[in-house]
Amino acid sequence: MLDFSLSDEQVALRDMVRKFVQQEIIPNAAKYDETSEFPREIINKAWQTGLMNIAIPEKFGGLGLGVLGDVIINEEMGAGCLGMTTSIAVNTLGLYPILLGGTEAQIEEFVVPFLSSPKLASFCLTEPGSGSDAGSLSTMAKEEGDYFILNGSKMWITNAGHADLFTVFCTTNKELKTKGIICLAVPANLPGISLGKHENKLGQRCSDTRSITFENVQVPKKNLIGKMGEGFKIAMRTLDRTRTPIAAGAVGAARAAMNYSKNYAKERKQFGQPIANFQAIQFMLADMAVKIESARLLCYNAAWLIDKGQDEQGSYFSALAKRHAADMAMEVATDAVQIYGGYGYTKEYPVEKIMRDVKLVQIYEGTSQIQRVLIARHLLKD
Ligand code: CAA
Repeated sequence: MLDFSLSDEQVALRDMVRKFVQQEIIPNAAKYDETSEFPREIINKAWQTGLMNIAIPEKFGGLGLGVLGDVIINEEMGAGCLGMTTSIAVNTLGLYPILLGGTEAQIEEFVVPFLSSPKLASFCLTEPGSGSDAGSLSTMAKEEGDYFILNGSKMWITNAGHADLFTVFCTTNKELKTKGIICLAVPANLPGISLGKHENKLGQRCSDTRSITFENVQVPKKNLIGKMGEGFKIAMRTLDRTRTPIAAGAVGAARAAMNYSKNYAKERKQFGQPIANFQAIQFMLADMAVKIESARLLCYNAAWLIDKGQDEQGSYFSALAKRHAADMAMEVATDAVQIYGGYGYTKEYPVEKIMRDVKLVQIYEGTSQIQRVLIARHLLKD
């Protein structure tokens, strides 16, 4: 049987997030965008409300809500502010490597503490010289007695300046390419870790984005997540689970852009009537609705597949969802600014911020081009 309805629990979750967004995120979004201040207070409230770390399984005291739960949360938060959504959601990205590859003892040690206080985790894959080609990373982990000695730099790391824990992807032998990559759980207070400046970004300005440098950082061998050489697959499996919630954030942002421009089009008069009466505007709104609804369905489908354990199809659908949602949100936000005309180009109205914010979704967690690579590989494989 095919059923498109959300369960009562999912509806309750969605309504709870919607209320949180109305009360905490929307009233503060413009201020944090302007100052690019880190929204620590709002993150703490999101944690208290139970909107973070929902993927932690019930056996460890979490909610075990899976990817669909994060999709529902992120769509609502994305309708409020994508910068805050990223800041709040990135724990999922930081913790999934340990949930997927770690032992029970490692989950207890590194993940479970996130349930008792609003800690933050950062996912450290990208480097100054390794972005889309993640397998070419060169941060080095050298074995020495009971430790890995970590040296190298990471780039564009979300929440880096506020994180308690880094999940770091590094290599023990660069010649082995992806098979030389390991994953380490690295507490942020280890000596030898230094942070770059907070990047002054076009959009999602309140999310904290920095470089990190590791200089002879001694990481205990017990912090190895998964086996030697398994790091790349852990990173890819993690991204399969986080690209869909990121896509859902874009769906929420696009939905907000459509609603703002729909309301504006009904109020704004030109040629003696509301511009909503003109077919040029109506067609833009209609196309927005088609794009948003189709992207949401892809997100639900991708989340459903992953949550059912169908990893291969889920990976394919998460690439479809991310590619479609990111690009459609950029189109929708651009058209929203167009409907607002000159007013939309100013900070007096909310749509220019959405346009700046959604641009990043086409870039982070795998660019729209990398999603196309993944989709084409799936289509063309034997
Ligand atoms: N699940 C399990 N295993 C996978 C996998 C998956 N989804 N994808 C690949 N693998 C396995 C492959 O099967 C292969 O295994 P074998 O060696 O055993 O055959 C191995 O991993 C290597 O895979 P590929 O040969 O496909 O590797 P590649 O070098 O061709 O790269 C890529 C693949 C998809 C392009 C990858 O580099 C990629 O995803 N790049 C984008 C990186 C990215 O998304 N970065 C985002 C950073 S995080 C971020 O942005 C966060 C933020 O700020 C909020």
